[in-house]
Amino acid sequence: MSARLAAILRSSLRLLSAAIACSACVALMCALFGVGSVSAQQQKALASPTCATCHAGVANSFRSAPMRHAMEPDGANTLLATHPDLTVKLGAYTYTVQTRNGHSTYSVTDGTDTLSLPIHWIFGQHTQTWVLEKDGHFYESLVSYFPRENALATTPGDQRITPHTVEEAMGRRLPIWETRVCFDCHATGVGNRLDVVKITPGLECEHCHTGSQQHMADAARDNFKTLPPSLKHLDAEQISTFCGRCHRTFDTVMRNRWHGPAFVRFQPYRMALSKCFVGNDPRIACTACHNPHQTLNHSAAYYDSKCLACHGEAKTAAAANNLQTAKTCPVAKSNCASCHMPKVELPGGHAQFTDHFIRVVKPGKIYPE
Ligand code: HEC
Ligand code: HEC
Ligand code: HEC
Ligand code: HEC
Ligand code: HEC
Ligand code: HEC
Ligand code: HEC
Repeated sequence: MSARLAAILRSSLRLLSAAIACSACVALMCALFGVGSVSAQQQKALASPTCATCHAGVANSFRSAPMRHAMEPDGANTLLATHPDLTVKLGAYTYTVQTRNGHSTYSVTDGTDTLSLPIHWIFGQHTQTWVLEKDGHFYESLVSYFPRENALATTPGDQRITPHTVEEAMGRRLPIWETRVCFDCHATGVGNRLDVVKITPGLECEHCHTGSQQHMADAARDNFKTLPPSLKHLDAEQISTFCGRCHRTFDTVMRNRWHGPAFVRFQPYRMALSKCFVGNDPRIACTACHNPHQTLNHSAAYYDSKCLACHGEAKTAAAANNLQTAKTCPVAKSNCASCHMPKVELPGGHAQFTDHFIRVVKPGKIYPE
């Protein structure tokens, strides 16, 4: 057994003791104790480890998480593959998104002039918008795909645009700064200057776990002194700021003077308005309700235990840990989120978001600021 292999086996032991579910490690343990032998495949995995070599559970679930697919390259998108001919007529312009042999083309015509561009960057797992490139400039497609209608319609926010040419009808030209931030929230490896050749579409581990490439290289050499900073111990305020880099914080919304239901989708901002939100209490952190490595849970009942961690009747774990207990509900004992975190329709229709401003919802006050 090579010294390197031995080192990695030792680290797998450590991993197991840290109770990380890891099927690859189990295989390694078998090898360590002489049960079977290290296959050529395992040897290869050890020579060039990935995060999954040691963090198999997290890596597996993250593979299908929406954030991993916040952006997809041409050819990788199931929606386009299964909807090869999308079309819509908006005013004088007809749009088509055609997919053939894994390649998609976005076209707009006014009957006389036609503009066709290849789709390289597909944004969104539910609503889908395309970023297009023409003559060195980037454009956000003026139409998007909406799953609720299973159809194309005007991209949210672009309703006010009245195009005069096919080029204007094709998309909204993005200034350089906006192209950069747009890619930075949806892809990995965007530096201070966007180089589309160097990016990886979607969020990779490294996007949230800064320094994890170094950690991986070192871990494979049995060096665990360079672990990426742990995110497990951040409090609610810190996590809101962390997720708010992309999901937008309270400060961002205030600074930009954004108002109205369009911003219900900025969960850290809405959450900060709730009486429930206590900055140093981990029970109201984004990660108390959401595992960023998994798909979103759509069952209201799933969140009950999260609410009851504070609003529970029994002075249980909370009291034992000197944490505050909050009032109980006079109306119901389950499905808390269904009444206290209402769904709000975005302007322009097509989609709704969950209001993270937890409250007693008053009739007629759909969206209090
Ligand atoms: C050779 C095995 C190995 C590889 C490969 C590896 N890790 Fe780790 N990682 C570990 C061990 C061991 C720990 C320490 C476990 C602990 O203390 O809970 C750790 C800890 C971490 C932590 C800190 C967890 C915490 O909150 O304390 C993060 C984050 C992390 N790894 C991410 C990654 C990412 C991302 C990759 C891929 C780029 C990666 N690791 C590759 C073995 C590995
Ligand atoms: C680098 C930017 C970025 C960061 C940081 C980030 N997110 Fe996201 N998140 C996104 C994007 C972009 C999407 C949209 C993915 C899609 O559906 O295309 C998303 C989607 C999600 C979804 C899925 C929503 C759905 O409708 O399925 C959840 C849940 C989520 N994020 C939670 C979090 C939490 C919790 C954190 C902090 C721990 C976080 N995110 C940090 C960019 C980010
Ligand atoms: C500050 C970070 C940020 C920027 C900049 C940003 N997005 Fe997003 N985007 C998100 C997050 C977070 C979500 C998921 C939650 C939401 O919809 O607010 C999202 C959602 C989306 C969705 C819908 C995904 C779905 O599953 O419904 C599309 C489409 C999208 N963004 C496209 C774009 C495009 C195109 C740009 C640039 C022109 C852009 N975004 C700029 C963070 C960002
Ligand atoms: C959207 C941001 C985001 C992405 C992307 C992300 N993580 Fe995490 N990760 C977090 C946060 C936040 C925590 C702390 C979770 C908590 O407090 O429960 C965490 C915790 C961890 C931990 C330690 C906790 C545990 O469950 O053992 C490991 C290991 C880890 N992540 C590995 C990875 C790997 C590997 C990937 C890529 C496959 C990845 N993460 C992608 C945000 C992210
Ligand atoms: C007390 C529990 C709770 C906390 C804390 C929480 N959420 Fe949610 N979140 C929910 C529920 C419930 C839903 C709706 C799930 C469904 O019905 O699909 C949701 C949905 C979402 C979605 C999907 C889009 C939407 O709005 O419907 C995103 C993204 C999200 N949350 C991000 C966050 C972020 C970021 C934070 C931290 C600021 C956070 N959440 C804190 C309970 C919570
Ligand atoms: C970190 C602890 C904590 C969590 C988690 C939490 N809350 Fe609260 N909540 C509070 C506190 C503290 C108050 C204000 C004082 C009180 O009600 O005792 C409050 C107030 C409320 C109120 C009354 C608001 C008002 O405007 O008068 C409602 C309704 C509520 N919470 C529902 C929920 C629901 C539903 C959830 C889960 C989705 C939840 N809370 C999660 C701590 C929490
Ligand atoms: C069917 C809708 C519904 C469900 C489900 C529901 N609530 Fe309520 N809740 C209400 C209404 C309505 C009020 C206001 C009652 C009043 O003021 O008379 C309320 C009040 C509250 C209050 C404020 C109590 C006070 O004394 O000020 C809290 C806290 C609360 N609910 C938490 C929860 C929690 C936690 C759950 C889940 C275990 C939950 N609610 C489930 C409708 C609901």
